[in-house]
Amino acid sequence: MKHKGRYGDFGGYYVPEVLLPALEEMEAAFEKWHGDAGFRAELERLLTDYAGRPTPLYRSPAVSDAVGCEVYLKREDLMHGGAHKLNNTLGQGLLAKYMNKHKLIAETGAGQHGLATATIGAMLGMEVKVFMGVTDIERQMPNVQKMKLLGAEVIPVRGASGTLKDAINEALRYWTSHVDDTFYLFGTAAGPHPYPTVVRHFQSVIGMETRAQCLEKLGRLPTLVTACVGGGSNAIGIFAGFIDDKDVQLVGVEAAGYGLDSGKHACTLQKGSVGVLHGARSYVLQDEHGQIIESHSVSAGLDYPGVGPEHCYLKDTGRARYVGATDEEVLDAFLFLTRKEGIFPAFESVHVIAWLLTQRGAFKPDDVIVVNLSGRGDKDVDAFIRYRPETVR
Ligand SMILES: Cc1ncc(COP(=O)(O)O)c(C=O)c1O
Repeated sequence: MKHKGRYGDFGGYYVPEVLLPALEEMEAAFEKWHGDAGFRAELERLLTDYAGRPTPLYRSPAVSDAVGCEVYLKREDLMHGGAHKLNNTLGQGLLAKYMNKHKLIAETGAGQHGLATATIGAMLGMEVKVFMGVTDIERQMPNVQKMKLLGAEVIPVRGASGTLKDAINEALRYWTSHVDDTFYLFGTAAGPHPYPTVVRHFQSVIGMETRAQCLEKLGRLPTLVTACVGGGSNAIGIFAGFIDDKDVQLVGVEAAGYGLDSGKHACTLQKGSVGVLHGARSYVLQDEHGQIIESHSVSAGLDYPGVGPEHCYLKDTGRARYVGATDEEVLDAFLFLTRKEGIFPAFESVHVIAWLLTQRGAFKPDDVIVVNLSGRGDKDVDAFIRYRPETVR
């Protein structure tokens, strides 16, 4: 697997030697099964009957009016569990089953990947341990309770900031000493090879479905496709349907936290430099000594100082561009979508709406924009009210 998993200069697998056999075993299993007719039929059935695919493509009158063109929402928030994460956990969970592994570990930030892993663990009869930062446990409590109800063990991780980076560190540390019987179900299109490839594959259902829906409903491809970027899985999932359509613009929205000049943000692609984090070469938020700089975002799922290697490559080749939305813009956009569309968006997903609301007049009226609404915001309602108590008085 020496030269595999490279996206230009990015990607690879920079891991302790003890993990290499497990990564190689996983790569071999993925190669063997992902195209297999039986595996594909089983996954297809679960995606349809269990998860609720295909998800709708909804024209949002409110966002369309505000931006001045046609804006459609790809409703991943309507999937079972409330986010795109289940596409990947169903895929990797089945892979684990085909590999005869019954113990799963996962990291989580917003709790959505942990929840999606606990969900498939319950359904497939597997033991699940979820590593989660203490800051994230506090701000995403509804998901923590759900994971526990589903029978998963939630392991609190302190680390420097108690967020996603620390959870991944701890999960990798645990995996090195339990590698023989444990499958690490990684939640985003980052980390060492083969995860960026595997996660992209299982999330590409979003992009394939969206492309077909655009052709069927609108008779055309969109002008622009956009998604939020944490590690990058929902974005690469929807981009995958359009990367070869050179006229379709691709825009990833990162978390600009308190603002790009504040030093407190998670805009890894815009402000990072090339380094190695969690087993892959990518853009990383780091100081001049290569020490990781803690990220900040109101959304736990985007609060990450690294990013998947394919996004680094898409940025450097100019195929995709990456922009940011601040915490304040996100809170405004959360209320906008809630009040104008009756949709509670996840803090992560609503970054895209927040950016779009700054783009009024930038598009022609018949331009079509597709937003990947990656998740629902039930988990964020308490946090929103803490930030904006006046809205419920
Ligand atoms: C709803 C939602 N969207 C997006 C993300 C960010 O992850 P990714 O960049 O892998 O899609 C998360 C992460 O937890 C999430 O919960």
